[in-house]
Amino acid sequence: MRVLVLHGPNLNLLGEREPEIYGTQTLDEINESIAGTAKKLGLEVRCEQHNGEGAIVEALHAARNEYSGVVINPGAYAHYSYAIADAISAISIPVVEVHLSNIAAREPFRRISVTAAACRGSISGLGAGSYVLALRALAEMLSP
Ligand code: DQA
Repeated sequence: MRVLVLHGPNLNLLGEREPEIYGTQTLDEINESIAGTAKKLGLEVRCEQHNGEGAIVEALHAARNEYSGVVINPGAYAHYSYAIADAISAISIPVVEVHLSNIAAREPFRRISVTAAACRGSISGLGAGSYVLALRALAEMLSP
């Protein structure tokens, strides 16, 4: 079972970016913990990071033929990208949204996720643990 993890804009700067909000782990370190969890769950995982909205839309389109499910952190696109929401709705494989920070407890514009509405579910506020739980949820959804 192959799962794609898509990290959105600015997440390449994790570790140095607003550590009081996003923690001190780098994206590479988070990807290592994702890989460790995937291995335990018997999932094959690939992690990608894209800053552009179009690149994320294209990665979602490509995923429908190559992967059984997707974990996505759309970054700020979560709050306004109907193009990414439509791409999630357009593919039939399950997509789970994650956020490192608790978007429900932040600025009003972050409290709405238009992309989460197109996903099977969403997990927010647990740091790298959000990705771990999303993988577990996908593994359960995909198990026969
Ligand atoms: C984020 C939350 C978004 O509001 C923000 O724009 C990000 C990161 C998170 O993981 O907490 O870039 O998606």
